[in-house]
Amino acid sequence: MNELEKEAIKILQNNWRDGFSIPCEGLYPFQWKWDSGFIAIGLAYFNISKAKEEITTLLDAQWENGFIPHIIFHNESDSYFPGPNYHHSDLHPKASKKYKSTGMTQPPVTGFVLEELYRIGKDKKDILQYIETVIDKVYDNHHYFYKNRDILNEGLVYIYHNWESGTDNSPLWDDIFKTMNPPKYTFERRDTTHVDASQRPTKREYDHYLHIIEIAKKHRYNDQKIAELSPFLVQDPLFNSMLIKSNQSLIALYNLIGNNQEKVNQLKKWQEKSIHSFNKKLFSKKLGAYIHYDLRNKKHLEYISSSSFTPLFAGIPSKERASVLVKTLMQKFGKKNLYLCASFDPSNERYEPKKYWRGPVWINLNWILYKGLKQYSFENEAQRTKEDTITLVKKFGFYEYFDARKEKDKAGYGGHNFSWTAALIIGLLHEK
Ligand code: DGY
Repeated sequence: MNELEKEAIKILQNNWRDGFSIPCEGLYPFQWKWDSGFIAIGLAYFNISKAKEEITTLLDAQWENGFIPHIIFHNESDSYFPGPNYHHSDLHPKASKKYKSTGMTQPPVTGFVLEELYRIGKDKKDILQYIETVIDKVYDNHHYFYKNRDILNEGLVYIYHNWESGTDNSPLWDDIFKTMNPPKYTFERRDTTHVDASQRPTKREYDHYLHIIEIAKKHRYNDQKIAELSPFLVQDPLFNSMLIKSNQSLIALYNLIGNNQEKVNQLKKWQEKSIHSFNKKLFSKKLGAYIHYDLRNKKHLEYISSSSFTPLFAGIPSKERASVLVKTLMQKFGKKNLYLCASFDPSNERYEPKKYWRGPVWINLNWILYKGLKQYSFENEAQRTKEDTITLVKKFGFYEYFDARKEKDKAGYGGHNFSWTAALIIGLLHEK
């Protein structure tokens, strides 16, 4: 086994708690929804029981209405803000009675993660038996999304908070924040005690984040009220791609399990509508890429980000459109002096190469990009994505995010010994 893989395994072992993994020490002391999925993929290569446990724990925190929260607060750590007493998930009548959590979610990766576990697992019978015990929970989660968050009945679901996107402080959201004027809240940040403030969102940005939560809390996290009142309401191509990819995985897994025709039919219906609307509404011919739609302000957010390329992973574009998309990728993000793939358009004035989601490379998005490129047979670009990703980690360490500029001697930022970086490096090392 190669040294990098050994190191990655050690990180995942160190970040394992009782039944789940933390993203990294200090900065993120609980279980995060989409982190948990990517981490399970890495765990599956060397410890399939832990991979299962990671997912079982996450799904154990599911609410009665199918919702799965973005952070599960498994302990009383006070090294994170905003913590359980701020989010107050118990305001929602259907929230988990067992776990404290947030009242927002994160990209729905769990469906395709289950399919990855099946692909990676050696004992297919055993892993399929496990999947059978949890798959309905993931189905219920998708049902929650289509029932509550597809307000125009077009197969595209909304997110109501930038933290739901996963791309927390992307410049994408600047235009939306300009429409808000939140109070200046008093609170004590914890993130900037773990990581240099220049790599994290600003205080004023946090005011906006909290303000949206205040509105949701005032209405007990009621979906209809949120859809009506949240100043942030977006159809995100990354979020919807993860849902569509996961639909596909659920269909494949239910077919393997058998006797679930009704669910398969329903998933296929969602799938058809979602893919159709996605292509119709979220592709910009002018930019040659998929972009976000701001439902609240009724306009597209005309920026290219790493989220713009995630539809490849979900099989959304036609072959022709995929070629246009990959051309945009290589022209804007794939220049020789840049590692793939910056999180925001490097040619845009809002690009900040060291700041969290305002420009740096993220390993989970690279993994998604690699898989997407492979699926459409863009072999060279896929290879480049894989090599760039491995080089970054080899050279700089298992960081949370990386400066895409090749001339930098230091390029790793944010949390260190970061779980999904470790997990997906293991994944990439095993890809042929
Ligand atoms: C944070 O605290 O920045 C988290 O990423 C929110 O999910």
